[in-house]
Amino acid sequence: MGVRFRGWGIAVPDRVVTNEELSLTLDTSDEWIRERTGIRERRIGGSAKTLGVLAGQRAMDDAGMSAADIDFLVLATTTPDRIAPATAPMIANELGLTCPAMDVNAACSGFMYAIRTAYGLLETGNKRILVIGAEHLSRWVDWSDRNMAVLLADGAGATVLEYDPNETDLISFCLGADGSAADLLTCEHGGYFQMNGREIFRRAVRVVVDSAEKALATAGITADDLSLVIPHQANIRIIQAATQRLGIEMERAVVVLDRYGNTSSASIPLAFDDARQNGRIKPGEYALMTGFGAGLTWASAIVRWS
Ligand code: UT7
Repeated sequence: MGVRFRGWGIAVPDRVVTNEELSLTLDTSDEWIRERTGIRERRIGGSAKTLGVLAGQRAMDDAGMSAADIDFLVLATTTPDRIAPATAPMIANELGLTCPAMDVNAACSGFMYAIRTAYGLLETGNKRILVIGAEHLSRWVDWSDRNMAVLLADGAGATVLEYDPNETDLISFCLGADGSAADLLTCEHGGYFQMNGREIFRRAVRVVVDSAEKALATAGITADDLSLVIPHQANIRIIQAATQRLGIEMERAVVVLDRYGNTSSASIPLAFDDARQNGRIKPGEYALMTGFGAGLTWASAIVRWS
């Protein structure tokens, strides 16, 4: 079976919050945040719905498709506007979609989990699926907690996946979950995000490398064949450590966390969009998309843009 990426769109809030601004109210510094995470600034504002609507509309426009063309909406979000209803039906309504719509929550692996879900739906008869990753993480940040406040931010990205009987952009997947590590990164009802950063860091590198190697093996290629790595944007040092272990130079990795911080399930499409704007997406070339996050969850995919 073939699946093609048909269009992409992103949305970020206008409000830029720099490291210097955070340093005014937190015991932190631009130097610490840049050196330990790679983040310089982030965008704050909107909601999963408003950002998701914008990104979704832009992806449909980019694909040259209208609401009637879409027959399923899968929204990846860790930060739905409400516990019920799900945010996807509200986004669908704003976009004029009348198709089924549902949320997927796999934290920072969410976009790749949504892509995998869409792939399965296309396998079973759907033709075009709008996949959105949209997050309003700032709502669940304790702004007096320097551990989380310097990391998390808001944003959205979207793509339209279309069934194609002949060609495929999605070559292989490797997804996983380990709920025994659930307490390492949590946000309780009515609470704020909390994390054991060092332990998440250690495990993140391990699962990214492991799932990437498995996805590469299933695709029948090696890391040398990859032109691009589009990783979840949590920490530049995680990206450096994982690519180094995979034998991939950092030049092949897309990094946008300096501008956007960690936007969870929006981070991979934000990185993709940046790569596209900079002419780094080339037909026929292989790329690795890889995410990890609370759960723990992880997900890697090998793609080849047709
Ligand atoms: O999206 C998926 C989930 N999230 C992640 O993948 C995040 C994974 N973890 C990380 O990115 C890193 O562990 C952090 C960026 C969270 C922390 O970096 P680190 O190098 O692991 O620092 P650390 O936690 O070992 O802390 C080093 C020091 C500590 O001080 P002491 O004990 O050495 O005196 C912290 O208290 O840095 C201190 N610190 C800070 N200082 C200034 C912690 N946060 C800050 C801060 N500003 N914001």
